[in-house]
Amino acid sequence: MTRPLKLCIIGCGSICKHICGSIGKGNVPGAVILGVYDRNPERSESVASDFGGGIKAASSFDELLSLEPDLMVEAASQSAVSEYLITALERGISVMIMSAGALSDDVLLSRIMQLSEERQCDVHIPSGAIGCLDAIRSAVSSGISEVVITTRKPPSGFEGSKYVVDNEIDLSSIKSETVLFEGSARDAVLLFPANVNVAASLSLAGIGFDRTQVRVVADPDAKRNSHEIHVEGGFGSMHFIVNNVPSPDNPKTSYLAALSAVESLRNICSSFHVGT
Ligand SMILES: NC(=O)c1ccc[n+]([C@@H]2O[C@H](COP(=O)([O-])OP(=O)(O)OC[C@H]3O[C@@H](n4cnc5c(N)ncnc54)[C@H](O)[C@@H]3O)[C@@H](O)[C@H]2O)c1
Repeated sequence: MTRPLKLCIIGCGSICKHICGSIGKGNVPGAVILGVYDRNPERSESVASDFGGGIKAASSFDELLSLEPDLMVEAASQSAVSEYLITALERGISVMIMSAGALSDDVLLSRIMQLSEERQCDVHIPSGAIGCLDAIRSAVSSGISEVVITTRKPPSGFEGSKYVVDNEIDLSSIKSETVLFEGSARDAVLLFPANVNVAASLSLAGIGFDRTQVRVVADPDAKRNSHEIHVEGGFGSMHFIVNNVPSPDNPKTSYLAALSAVESLRNICSSFHVGT
């Protein structure tokens, strides 16, 4: 059975374009995109004209809301989560969050959880650039003692991050594998907001932002963005390695993240579910 889904997208970058392309090709039966919004109007207009299908380029978030979607997809930035999604939930609109790092703010997270219960709408956080969240969620009830994620990228992949800017790190001078940061997921998502959304989703699926440990490695020999995840607990142990190719439109975003957003939409529209 296919369930109809009317959606809107905030942010018209690489993930949005992949979603629009997939839905346009009929790869998410039941889904229709009503409109898109970007703080850079040229981007929303370009998505609306490139992908057609009646997609409206909204000139404001209020205009996007007025289209009355069932689901608001955030594919923009951490700040967009707090800026727009509370209003969407207050109106009973379900949300999908790609910039999961925003949820390291406990106040925002509990408000989102409270509203979704009160308004009986859903909050979807796709696995994004890692996967394996289903296995970790299953393992939580057995007791998890340790979750460590090592994120490894070429040095240029960390350009503009708060940690690099604050510490005046010259990324071009890194000639061999260098650990930039080791610490909690709570600190990592603030210092590397565009790079470690995966650490946030992992924290939410497992043992939280304070107990999930993150290592960030700049490696000039790295050809791909990789995430290595190690979990220990009552179930035994797990070890996952994901070697991602970058998105065609944004080298900071892994292609798997865009694929994961589309698969989450397919899951919402379907009555047949595989994986926990
Ligand atoms: N969960 C994951 O595993 C995962 C993986 C990759 C990327 N991401 C995150 O998903 C988000 C989207 O990724 P992308 O590759 O499509 O990014 P992108 O940079 O290609 O596009 C983002 C677009 O959003 C717009 N935007 C940003 N903040 C906005 C705001 N407050 N209001 C309106 N528009 C805004 C920008 O102008 C830009 O056009 C990013 O935050 C990225 O860090 C998550």
